[in-house]
Amino acid sequence: MVPHKTKSTTEFPLPNPTISQYHIMWSLMQLVPFYSLPLILGAAFLFIKWYKSTPPTTFKKLPPSPPSLPLIGNIHQLKGTVHEAFESLSKRYGDPRGLVLVYIGTIPSLVVSTTEAAREIMKTHDLAFADRPATRMFKAISYNLKDGTIAPYGEHWRQVKSILTLHLLCTKTVQTFEAMRRRVLAGYLTKINECFMSNKPVELTSMTSPDPVVAADGFTPLIEVLLKIQKDDNLGITIDSDVVKALLLDAYVAATDTTASVIQWVMTEFLLNPEIMKKAKDEVNTILNGRKDITGEDLDKMTYLKAVIMETTRLHPPVPILLPRVARQDVNVMGYDIAEGTRVYVNVYAIMKDPKVWVNPEKFVPERFLDSSTDFIKHNFELLPFGAGRRACPGRIYSMAIDEMVLATFLYKYEWSLPQGVKPEDVDMEGTFGLANHKKVPLLAVAKPITIDGK
Ligand code: HEM
Repeated sequence: MVPHKTKSTTEFPLPNPTISQYHIMWSLMQLVPFYSLPLILGAAFLFIKWYKSTPPTTFKKLPPSPPSLPLIGNIHQLKGTVHEAFESLSKRYGDPRGLVLVYIGTIPSLVVSTTEAAREIMKTHDLAFADRPATRMFKAISYNLKDGTIAPYGEHWRQVKSILTLHLLCTKTVQTFEAMRRRVLAGYLTKINECFMSNKPVELTSMTSPDPVVAADGFTPLIEVLLKIQKDDNLGITIDSDVVKALLLDAYVAATDTTASVIQWVMTEFLLNPEIMKKAKDEVNTILNGRKDITGEDLDKMTYLKAVIMETTRLHPPVPILLPRVARQDVNVMGYDIAEGTRVYVNVYAIMKDPKVWVNPEKFVPERFLDSSTDFIKHNFELLPFGAGRRACPGRIYSMAIDEMVLATFLYKYEWSLPQGVKPEDVDMEGTFGLANHKKVPLLAVAKPITIDGK
């Protein structure tokens, strides 16, 4: 295990070497060829960086940690996808209540893996963990933290988030994006019909993956709303062109991949569970009753389809580890002292299949949400695909409006099956760990159009 060292040299001074220690160091340096000096200085720099960044020994009680190596910390133990690696480190070395402290390089990082611990972070101590790390990479992709996703906790973030939540992604505005939803859908339907005409299976993974041109077109209504807001003098912050660009980038990065991931995994589960697909299809057919177009009101009534989506995001969360948070101050969580600056990774992938909370967690059972009061909003920190607390995702209504419309249309307009000769057990269920959790091996399906007379 890494010995926990001083927080800063001013608070916990490093020992001053004595004259004889200088002699020894100097003699050692004589043994080293001159050209290795940069190497040694580099190593010394990294060592001091690590030494300063690790929490102090005097910092009372730290959460349990796996053994780690200097400089790289626990990085060598992160095999496979990060959420799976975090889950196994937590099970093996962590407090069973769901906390383990790992070192990503030299950075102390608290991994949270149970409902109970998630509630502590995102409810009890939500304010203390409301920051995001201001890394160089994050600064580079957010017009210097002017967006809403990575911006540090503070007035700018508060205002930008309220623009997203109240003006851009609320039910009222999203309803006005009808044309955009239809454009996204029309693109999919054209591709599916082309596959049918040429007798080929549909490759659902790449078909639903964001095409920058289609996405940019889809974001036209967002741009219009943002430009309107830009002229509003009563907002309290200046919405300059960098903020507009940062918010659009937010919408593109945060929205497209995640929304597509839901469609891919729901379709995968449908193809593996034809009886569930039939139930969802029957619901859509009954509600539409032969009508040609699906409306927002129709979607509101599709409770089984909504349950399928919730169950899919539980088992295949588009964002398996919530975006990193940072402790804004020293804070005690479940009896452990968490130092200011510690990063926090909430592993919702582990939380959403915690056997203490979910019955048969590995099974795909949408029915569990039918008689339940749990949904994306009313949850007890066990259903967290959109996160929770102050830093929760503001895009839920927007992305669900698209996902429900696309999936209901897929069910209404096509008969879906696996390609001939492919059995459910042949379908690879491995996910990726990128911007969003996609299917690693593309999903192939046969889609046969259904003729709808249309009322
Ligand atoms: C299925 C679709 C989506 C999923 C699963 C998803 C998931 C998430 C998650 C897990 C977080 C981090 C929450 C946390 O740290 O507690 C997040 C944050 C965020 N999402 Fe989404 N998201 C989706 C769609 C969208 C859309 C459509 C938008 C906007 C157009 C959006 C904008 C954001 C923003 C701005 C944040 C940062 C919030 C903050 O830090 O205060 N997301 N999202």
